[in-house]
Amino acid sequence: MTPNQSQPSSTIQANIVIHNIGQLVTIAQSPIQGATGPLQVLEHAALAVHNGIIVWIGPDDDAQPKFLQPAPVNTDGITIVDAQGAVVTPGFVDSHTHLVFAGDRAEEFHLRRAGVSYGELLAQGRGILTTMKATRDASTETLLALALSRLDSMRSYGTTTVEVKTGYGLNTVTEETCLRIINTLNTLEERPPHHHNQIRVVPTFLGAHSVPPEYKERRNEYVDLIVEEMLPAFVGLARFCDVFCEREAFTLEESRRILTRAKELGYLLKVHADQLSPSGGSQLAAELGAISADHLDHASDAELAAMREAGVVATLLPGCSYTLRTPYPPARRFLDAGLHVALATDFNPGTSYCENMQMILDLAMSAMGMSLEEALTAATLNGARALALHDQIGSIEVGKCCELAFWSIQDYHEIGYHFGVNLVQSVLVQK
Ligand code: NIG
Ligand code: FE
Repeated sequence: MTPNQSQPSSTIQANIVIHNIGQLVTIAQSPIQGATGPLQVLEHAALAVHNGIIVWIGPDDDAQPKFLQPAPVNTDGITIVDAQGAVVTPGFVDSHTHLVFAGDRAEEFHLRRAGVSYGELLAQGRGILTTMKATRDASTETLLALALSRLDSMRSYGTTTVEVKTGYGLNTVTEETCLRIINTLNTLEERPPHHHNQIRVVPTFLGAHSVPPEYKERRNEYVDLIVEEMLPAFVGLARFCDVFCEREAFTLEESRRILTRAKELGYLLKVHADQLSPSGGSQLAAELGAISADHLDHASDAELAAMREAGVVATLLPGCSYTLRTPYPPARRFLDAGLHVALATDFNPGTSYCENMQMILDLAMSAMGMSLEEALTAATLNGARALALHDQIGSIEVGKCCELAFWSIQDYHEIGYHFGVNLVQSVLVQK
């Protein structure tokens, strides 16, 4: 892509025009003229953007007379981007990550390979608590630098929006530090060198990730602390509140208490539900009108029906199955139940140490029975639904934000077929 300056000649006001797009995979929900298939794909396309919002999508041939010719009437400069025949899709929306932490758990990973279970490690005070200790001990600067380099990695694989959870502080001070770091990421991303390819970061409070050791014998008091101190203090710092509702973490009643209070305070809700065993978390997500329920490996048919009724997005996280060597969530079951299915990395040091959404797509297609079209939709538009941002991002449509991935392939059908390499060339985010 080579940006350069020219003069506009259009009645549509635009300050950036991207032309010479080989294939524009819009994933639009309303028909686009000339586009075909379930993903509304337009061959030889161009698009125009004004102040970060897509204002025009059309055939490449129409871009020239519309925007790219000199005209005396309008003296504003237009930035022209030559896509050089690239395939362009919406940037990935990675709607579930635990990106802010220090340390690693390589040793535990290999212990698990040797047969020790994730649950056993957690019960021994390892797992999430190993990362909690490293995170509490790290400086703000270290945590920020680690988070920034992980964002760089995600961007290089095509992600343009990422949800980031706390949950390795597990006390008011460190949870707040982590939330402030997550919010700072957005500000830093707006500066050079990333101001044209910045990642949007959506903050989630997950104080209920594990009971910290100091509250081991009085877990009710930790729930009190979340409900009475942390949740009120963090209003405005987090868009979502999430709970790890699981036998090894928080009970259904504890989860209900935390999420109910969060909802009263204006947080949107997410639930880590039914991952390791049936927990009732999916039902709770439906009951409380959560935006998404995530994992869902053990969710029942009745729970899926309740989620559909309540409009809860089903977020599937195959990186965990890959790492824990457990069965993959059967995506067909969720799709056939009429649910919106999202895919995300669940990037975290324990169960899915992977920044790469292309890998997640590949797993969804090879191990979960999803078609390319379903997987791409799940990783973009439905990721946006899982963040309640689908009015703004997740597809390439007039009126939406310009968050794009440029691919070094000739045809989008190469996605999933050519695997184990990075097929994304760059992202472009225009604000
Ligand atoms: O989504 N399940 C809870 N949280 C993460 C794991 C976090 C960790 O092991 O550090 C997950 O799988
Ligand atoms: Fe998670």
